[in-house]
Amino acid sequence: MNIIQRSKTQKIIDTIAFPLRAFTIFEEDKWGLSSLRTDRCDYCAGEVQGYTLDVGCGPDNWFIHHNLQGNGIGIDVFKYRGLSDENIVEDITHFPFPDAAFDTVTFIANLNHVPRSQRDIELAEAYRVLKPGGNILVTMTNALALLVVHRVVEWYDRIFKTRHDMDNIRGMGHEEEYYLKDEEIRSRLHKAGFTNLQKKRFPTVWGLNWVTIGWKKDQNLSQ
Ligand SMILES: C[S@@+](CC[C@H](N)C(=O)[O-])C[C@H]1O[C@@H](n2cnc3c(N)ncnc32)[C@H](O)[C@@H]1O
Repeated sequence: MNIIQRSKTQKIIDTIAFPLRAFTIFEEDKWGLSSLRTDRCDYCAGEVQGYTLDVGCGPDNWFIHHNLQGNGIGIDVFKYRGLSDENIVEDITHFPFPDAAFDTVTFIANLNHVPRSQRDIELAEAYRVLKPGGNILVTMTNALALLVVHRVVEWYDRIFKTRHDMDNIRGMGHEEEYYLKDEEIRSRLHKAGFTNLQKKRFPTVWGLNWVTIGWKKDQNLSQ
């Protein structure tokens, strides 16, 4: 499988420069440093099993298009820059795919943006469209870091009339949150049927961002 990730040198530079990149560049790479989006997508790319559904793909369907070189489909509720009709699913409580169509389903910086009352429904859909033996990735960021970064970038966008924060472009709904606690992610994943949950921290953002990985059990294998 052909996946795109940063070089080792770039990871070292990014690790040293983490606080700077958190506050100055939100979604785009700049000045030889990687954005937080590049960081999380990069890390997740190393955990995918194959053909991937990226839920809440965001602008340009970046993860599928760039990191996975088109090996999957990204869906979203909002028509961000670079998304086509194929990417937009207005009623996202039903994923428009048959059962067992994907090897991996990702919710990258996304589950907290799914309205609270829809979270279990979308995770159940993720389970349905995964092949037995497939995995789900849910990334989340440290609450304090996330709130501070959002506030700083929000003010930057206001003052300089830029649009660096994709959440501000769309506008946060009343059932969305800026972060979710681990317990909520784990209990919702369990409820949807996922097993063998694991938490892995991203080193290049000093462990302040992490992914929870769960598996759809393959009844034919002992796991
Ligand atoms: C912070 S962005 C993350 C985008 C992208 N995954 C990334 O890592 O850059 C959160 C995304 O969740 C999407 N979203 C909002 N409501 C959603 C829902 N009900 N189901 C799935 N995605 C949703 C937003 O439109 C947005 O693209």
